[in-house]
Amino acid sequence: MRSVVISLGGSIISMEKLNLELMKSVSSTLQKINTYDKYGIVVGGGRLARTYISDLKAYNVNDNILDEIGINATRINALALTTFFDDVNSKIPTTINDAAEMIHNYRYVIMGGTEPGHTTDTVSTLFAERIGAKILINATSVDGVYSEDPRKFKNAKKFDKISYDDAIKISVNNSIGAGTNVFMDITSLTIAKRAGIKIFVINGMDMDEYINILNYERCNGTVIS
Ligand SMILES: Nc1ncnc2c1ncn2[C@@H]1O[C@H](COP(=O)(O)OP(=O)(O)OP(=O)(O)O)[C@@H](O)[C@H]1O
Ligand SMILES: [Mg+2]
Repeated sequence: MRSVVISLGGSIISMEKLNLELMKSVSSTLQKINTYDKYGIVVGGGRLARTYISDLKAYNVNDNILDEIGINATRINALALTTFFDDVNSKIPTTINDAAEMIHNYRYVIMGGTEPGHTTDTVSTLFAERIGAKILINATSVDGVYSEDPRKFKNAKKFDKISYDDAIKISVNNSIGAGTNVFMDITSLTIAKRAGIKIFVINGMDMDEYINILNYERCNGTVIS
């Protein structure tokens, strides 16, 4: 069974509005490609999650509850995405165990977060590790991994490829302080390293990227291995 996991960043799904065009494009692109038998798709929280979290933060709600609220937002996004697929789960699994069971029954298993303290990036690497997927597509709002956050530093340099350890160093440097955005968190990169999962960080709006990775393991983003 050849399987692949896609971490679909909430940043490109839940924007000012729900990005239905992107959901449609991703589903039709994936449903055309037969190089893989099974697809795990983990959807992030995006604007929906961040709106609730930042509003409630003003009332000193504790981070564990904020995470729980964010997780529920990711599940709403995940459920919305399922409506564009056939041969897909209709209930959103809440654990990796349940998702791993479901993948036997469906070609596509779509989920959101699992528990407080874990980002959906971490969920996606754990899911990949569990089902033996050797590649993970991290589809997000930036077109690869840079030396620094490209939104803040104009001179940041983009990498074509990078080691797990160097990606972890960059992730640490960009994760200092609350409410930071980073291409992937340290835990997710550590899981990928121990499982030997090759990560492709791509602009998730560019359908050619998915096609080239799934067919040829090539992309214009960054490969972490
Ligand atoms: N070194 C870096 N290289 C690339 N992007 C970086 C880096 N450091 C920080 N970033 C930021 O990471 C952002 C992507 O992460 P973000 O969490 O915002 O999106 P997402 O993971 O797609 O969405 P969500 O977390 O809602 O699922 C980019 O917009 C970029 O500004
Ligand atoms: Mg993120």
